[in-house]
Amino acid sequence: MNPPIRAMAPRHYLDPEVFQREREAVFYKTWQFAAHASQVASPGDYYCFSLAGQNLFLLRGPDGKMRCFYNVCQHRAHEMLEGSGNRRVLVCPYHAWTYDLGGRLMKAPGDRRVVGFQRKDICLAQVQVEDLLGFLFVNLDPAAAPMEAWYPGLRDALARFVPGIDDLKPMEVRRQNEACNWKVSVENYSECYHCERVHTAFASGVIDPESYDISVNGGYCLRHTSVAANLERMSYSIDVSANETAGQYSSWFLWPAFSFQVYPGNLLNSYRWQAEAVDRVAIERGWYSKNGVESEEIARLAQQDMDTTVAEDVRLVESVQRGLKSRGYRPAPLIVDPAGGVRSEHSIAALYGWWEAAMDGRIGPA
Ligand code: FES
Ligand SMILES: [Fe+2]
Repeated sequence: MNPPIRAMAPRHYLDPEVFQREREAVFYKTWQFAAHASQVASPGDYYCFSLAGQNLFLLRGPDGKMRCFYNVCQHRAHEMLEGSGNRRVLVCPYHAWTYDLGGRLMKAPGDRRVVGFQRKDICLAQVQVEDLLGFLFVNLDPAAAPMEAWYPGLRDALARFVPGIDDLKPMEVRRQNEACNWKVSVENYSECYHCERVHTAFASGVIDPESYDISVNGGYCLRHTSVAANLERMSYSIDVSANETAGQYSSWFLWPAFSFQVYPGNLLNSYRWQAEAVDRVAIERGWYSKNGVESEEIARLAQQDMDTTVAEDVRLVESVQRGLKSRGYRPAPLIVDPAGGVRSEHSIAALYGWWEAAMDGRIGPA
């Protein structure tokens, strides 16, 4: 019999060297959410963002194709763009080297006088980008397999679960900082063993904890499922007869740092974790509505979520981060129930497995 799986050693959450190594081993090799396609809808639209210390921008080409580039001029490394907007060509603010929307160098003032200067060899460095039902993900590893290999069946499952997903646009994004390691936050998100005790609003007004489960099958995805709370107790109104999935809750956590979450009533929202330092993570909660139109109901739900689930989790994860520094902490076994269910931490064991393999250089779909 295998010994039980113990909680991970505290140094993995505390050591700045581990954090640096994670950037290379995990964050530069996995798919990360960047923006919604509607934020870069027209040819020439761009959107700057950063990912684990790297500045990047998305750019819609004249051909309609989505591209992602490192935000750095190939001359002497000035950044090319800031914020978001639209351009017909990309002109570096430093010495005016000019690139076309495919990233190729078109003009470099004075270059004709340089013997051997090959304009055609100079391009902005590109990064892989994928459009998943309007959600744009990037991967800094040029050899990375497509998302379908990492998260098999995700696209179809999500399209089936959220009718009209193609018409959704971001309505609002809420940001929350947490003074903890990103893994503490992700692990907290990935089990519902604490839900009933801590998240009373969520566990009575959104979902039914007895039906809650998390499955680990299917690539680097943790799929959470539950039926809606008792309808009289729902904290917002839904029409369960609207479609097959309207009465269900589901989320797809895409390791390492993003989750699609669908509240009963087909309300799509998202979690994005940005690891900023060994003991600091920012969470972005995205809320989506048809065409991005302001909905009072979604705004109320987003606020309720910030005031209850998110605020409750902040207290938990920050306490854990302090606890991990305690000289009195000896990591005990996880509660892994072979049958799964709401009181099982099998999903935490899966997170450990992915992380340990990645830190060992083994990452990506088989
Ligand atoms: S650094 Fe961009 S033109 Fe010089
Ligand atoms: Fe929680």
